[in-house]
Amino acid sequence: MLINDKYSHLVGKARKAKHNAYAPYSHYQVGAAVLTRSGEIFIGVNVENASFGLTVCAERNAIFNALSQGNIDLEAIAISAQGEDIPYPCGACRQVMEEFNPDFIVILDSGDSINIYSLKELLPMAFKLKS
Ligand code: THU
Repeated sequence: MLINDKYSHLVGKARKAKHNAYAPYSHYQVGAAVLTRSGEIFIGVNVENASFGLTVCAERNAIFNALSQGNIDLEAIAISAQGEDIPYPCGACRQVMEEFNPDFIVILDSGDSINIYSLKELLPMAFKLKS
């Protein structure tokens, strides 16, 4: 699939980041890169733990990295993992994306193909807390 330069740059950042993943248990390395509406990029990797439930996915680390540095206006996220399968984000990460942008653009890099989705496709009927 053809994507614009902005998003192919984002995919490149996610691809590069995955080499920093800390994944000694699953050996499945994931990198993510978030693009803000102002054009900044924040990366994250999956960080595992001997107490497996404490593991945090790459997508959430990238989003929390952006937030931690004062960026809440998020446009797109690229996710890259090893292997040829499309790295669909887990349900928890989809819900975290929904929190910040229900129209998040989600770019999935399988190594030999790049697949673009909107979050609405990946998380229809998302949970929302009505005040
Ligand atoms: N993982 C992610 O980083 N993102 C996902 O959306 C799914 C799973 C990580 C968590 C764990 O370190 C490894 O992949 C295997 O589940």
